[in-house]
Amino acid sequence: MSMTHYYAKRAAEYEAIYQKPERQENLKQLQAMIAGSFTGRDLLEIACGTGYWTQFACRSACSILATDYNEEVLSIAREKNYRNCPITFVKSDAYALEEVDGPFSAALVGFWWSHVPKAKMDDFFQVLHRKLIKEAKVLMMDNRYVEGSSTPVTRIDEEGNTYQTRKLLDGSTFEVLKNFPSPGEFVQPVEPASTRCKFMELDYFWVAEYDFDSR
Ligand SMILES: C[S@@+](CC[C@H](N)C(=O)[O-])C[C@H]1O[C@@H](n2cnc3c(N)ncnc32)[C@H](O)[C@@H]1O
Repeated sequence: MSMTHYYAKRAAEYEAIYQKPERQENLKQLQAMIAGSFTGRDLLEIACGTGYWTQFACRSACSILATDYNEEVLSIAREKNYRNCPITFVKSDAYALEEVDGPFSAALVGFWWSHVPKAKMDDFFQVLHRKLIKEAKVLMMDNRYVEGSSTPVTRIDEEGNTYQTRKLLDGSTFEVLKNFPSPGEFVQPVEPASTRCKFMELDYFWVAEYDFDSR
């Protein structure tokens, strides 16, 4: 659980990542996309962190149930302003979602795919899809690896997962699993349970969108 522990310790300094100057233009594009994506839908957000993206999702969603494993980030998320959108924050493990009822007509998964080990990817999607109705809209986004902007990869394991060595402000260091997919790698496990799967690449981020199809 070292990645999970890392994000608990990073909670207070997490949103500094959204200040990187070279990423601002792409972030604006993502913000607009998230803000306009969930009209008429009840949204399940996975690994919501400090609620940074929840702030934009609330502009179109009918309701949001936002989950994260760490209370440290959820307590920051609960303090934000979500306009008139009804929001519930629930502590829940993305690999189980036992505390989540549903079903939902949309899902938002921000900057979480990259932390799922390759061996657990199918489990993650199965657990998520069990909470969705047919034709639910799923939107995921995450980082692309960009030399000079991304934290360097320091290790690759036998399954091909890549790792970064990250430092917090108190000087503590963590090895964090962080994968960067090709379009095909993202689409392959999703394809049997989806229609209209699109994978888009910005300079610093990727965004994927599909309709869940429960066939
Ligand atoms: C990179 S952050 C993304 C936060 C937020 N979605 C964002 O984009 O700003 C990853 C998040 O995953 C959460 N997390 C770690 N392990 C988890 C797990 N097993 N289940 C659910 N959330 C988890 C961390 O607490 C952290 O908030």
